[in-house]
Amino acid sequence: MTSTNDIRRGFLDFFEKNGHARVPSAPLVPHNDPTLMFVNAGMVPFKNVFTGLESRPYSQATSSQKCVRAGGKHNDLDNVGYTARHHTFFEMLGNFSFGDYFKDRAIELAWTLLTKEWGLSPDRLTATVYHTDDEAFDLWKKIAGLPESRIIRIPTKDNFWSMGDDGPCGPCSEIFYDHGEHVPGGPPGSPDEDGDRFTEIWNLVFMQFEQAGGEIVSDLPRKSIDTGMGLERVAAVFQGTTDNYETDTFKALISASQALTSNNGESAASHRIIADHLRTSGFLVADGVFPANEGRGYVLRRIMRRAMRHAHLLGASEPLMHRLVPALVAEMGAAYPELVRAQPLIEATLQQEETRFRQTLATGLRLLDEAAEGLEEGGTLAGETAFKLYDTYGFPLDLTEQALIEKGLKVDHAGFERAMGEQKAMARAAWKGSGAQASDDIWFDLVEEHGATEFTGYSGDEGEGVVLAIVKGGARVDRAAAGDTVDLLLNQTPFYGESGGQTGDSGKLSTLKGFQGEVEDTSKPLGKLHVLRTKVAAGEIAIGETVHQMVDAERRDRTRANHSATHLLHAALRHRLGTHVTQKGSLVAPDYFRFDFSHPKALTREEIAEVEADVNAQIRGNEPVTTRLMTPDEAIAAGAMALFGEKYGDEVRVLSMGRGAGADYSVELCGGTHVRALGDIQLLKIISESAVSSGVRRIEALTGEAARTWLVNRDDKLREAAAALKSSPEEVPVRVAALVEDRRRLERELADAKKALAMGGGAAKADESGPEDVGGHKFIGQIIDGLNPKDLRSTVDTMKQRVGTGIAALVAVNDGRASVAVGVTDDLAGQVSAVDLVKVAVAALGGQGGGGRPDMAQGGGPDGTKAGEALAAVKDALEKVAA
Ligand code: ALA
Repeated sequence: MTSTNDIRRGFLDFFEKNGHARVPSAPLVPHNDPTLMFVNAGMVPFKNVFTGLESRPYSQATSSQKCVRAGGKHNDLDNVGYTARHHTFFEMLGNFSFGDYFKDRAIELAWTLLTKEWGLSPDRLTATVYHTDDEAFDLWKKIAGLPESRIIRIPTKDNFWSMGDDGPCGPCSEIFYDHGEHVPGGPPGSPDEDGDRFTEIWNLVFMQFEQAGGEIVSDLPRKSIDTGMGLERVAAVFQGTTDNYETDTFKALISASQALTSNNGESAASHRIIADHLRTSGFLVADGVFPANEGRGYVLRRIMRRAMRHAHLLGASEPLMHRLVPALVAEMGAAYPELVRAQPLIEATLQQEETRFRQTLATGLRLLDEAAEGLEEGGTLAGETAFKLYDTYGFPLDLTEQALIEKGLKVDHAGFERAMGEQKAMARAAWKGSGAQASDDIWFDLVEEHGATEFTGYSGDEGEGVVLAIVKGGARVDRAAAGDTVDLLLNQTPFYGESGGQTGDSGKLSTLKGFQGEVEDTSKPLGKLHVLRTKVAAGEIAIGETVHQMVDAERRDRTRANHSATHLLHAALRHRLGTHVTQKGSLVAPDYFRFDFSHPKALTREEIAEVEADVNAQIRGNEPVTTRLMTPDEAIAAGAMALFGEKYGDEVRVLSMGRGAGADYSVELCGGTHVRALGDIQLLKIISESAVSSGVRRIEALTGEAARTWLVNRDDKLREAAAALKSSPEEVPVRVAALVEDRRRLERELADAKKALAMGGGAAKADESGPEDVGGHKFIGQIIDGLNPKDLRSTVDTMKQRVGTGIAALVAVNDGRASVAVGVTDDLAGQVSAVDLVKVAVAALGGQGGGGRPDMAQGGGPDGTKAGEALAAVKDALEKVAA
């Protein structure tokens, strides 16, 4: 048996032997196309080479490219697990010619590899061509000796390949393998072509045209070749099966899943889905994608949660997916070392996501089952229910849908969309807004014309440069004059362009002819050009002139200190919290920096203090910072933490700093500017720690003078507090604690005193001490500010006792509002009603109602300033009753 790993290696060896550069797989997140979610074909990393926007030092290449098809034009998500050949993650083996060889050599190479090198029988092979492509038809006859009956003309877009609406495209020729008569199915183009007998194994695309908006707009500058062979399918051919899930890699993953769930073969689809989604999740996390609620992160979350539902269906009682990662790394880690490096992160991410999802999964499934039970066969689940599952239980719509398909039910999509409404529109807007304009033609043209800008700023802040281009308002111009703000491109510059989290430099430009420019910011389009946003303050500047450039060095120095501090902080966090900590983003500005990293919970005060102390110990150690240029492989061998998703050139800069146990404290790949020795950072102060999103924390910190100033300000505040307390800073905490305690005690005492006052004790006012005569009855009326309304009734009872036989009325005013109670002694029952009296008081207070019993009634009103009027109204009413 030929293993999947052998086939991959054999393919790459063959093409390398035949003059092709062996190019490592690009990360799954495309760098050259902001409109594409994931790399979905082997040619994607070469897209701009085909269209002529970018050039490479080779004209023939071969690769084994990681691909994800789960979203966009090529989306296989829904079929996974239920068919023999659908995957969300797969590997595409390819050979490419960029204006080098074309159809004849492509066919010759493919035929030689399949039949000579690999020894597949020519009788098993069939080719298709685009119906009008006579040239390819004849070449198959001539080179491969295929009979005409096995060269099939296909008139559909199956044989015209394009990567999407935009980009290179062309007619293609597919090679099919015939598994033999015992398998049902017919040749391509026949009515039963969908059977398993004939499997497409290789697609040779004759790249010739460029599309825009789905229309062919031009010929490519050079005719090229792009081929794609599905590794999983070829492995199936070699391993004598028509089912990709029966090949060695998948069998290993599926048996790991079976072993951990002790589940027999009955739930084949669930195990297949788990195996497929494990690969996709593992590779996406290794390339820096993290589960989230929008964009790429949401596709990852959907894939993870689908797998997790199936783990639940298989009876897994604990999170399962992370325990399968070792099997994945064992199968694929040798070919994709990024998987080995990211293993701890993949495991931590899967475990965290599954733990979280399991909190709502069982309840959500119960809700779904109940809703489904109420439906007829073929029925439709209400959109609102699907949305509730989505919103409250974290069920992606396609997960709900898949669960319903298994029961023969559907979802009301329109209803779901309605319920989703605004949220979805917002997510889409955020996704669209997130793509940098990498396709900006001007910058592509300029890279073509001039190559990358040479950055001279690692070793200095000043230097000459020749103006290569001036861009004003999105158009290229020859000159700029005072008052203009333009983008300047020079052949070399010490100005750092914003990238890798570090902000762009600002500074000054001048020429001997009197031009003065203020550089406000520097950007780095396409990751290659340093573009200086410049306001022309005086004189003129034109293409071809030599400019003296001066970076604002003081600002740059502060930025350097902050950037080096992020590296130390990253290392300290990993030492203290564990190797699951990885950088999730950073912003390095001159006046502060922030650093985002993966960690499941808030840091404690102690952890923050330890991390800060560790970094400051490194700063005091004042070791020199060393920079080495090496190949990416050497860098990783030297212990560099890969910055996932970064695009690396042939050489990378490796920054080592500090002293750890027997090794450098921090080793990272980084293109930023750094201090020469750690003592230049002077001081680190962490000023905040917070959550950015689930599983991602953010630290904000200061260094150098900014950190010192911050500490001085804190000290000043403490001194002010001490002065106000007439004490010393050292005593402030004890004094404040005592004051808080005093205040609590005084509040208690005040409340008691108010109550006592109302009860008639203490210093009651003379005119309130004795009853007056109103309409022939004894009456006491009282107003008490701050009496707690809950003490109102008991106080009126006491007043009733004082009056003996008569009426008592009490208004309590709190926060501007008034509560009122009126009491009538029992012997007056039938003559005077407390309820009637309280109603007039309530009305006077601007309130409504009031009620109770004839001997005790209460109510309230919003206007406490009318307390006196309320008592007067009660007296009036009492006089009227008597009259
Ligand atoms: N780009 C071609 C494909 O994906 C080879 O099929």
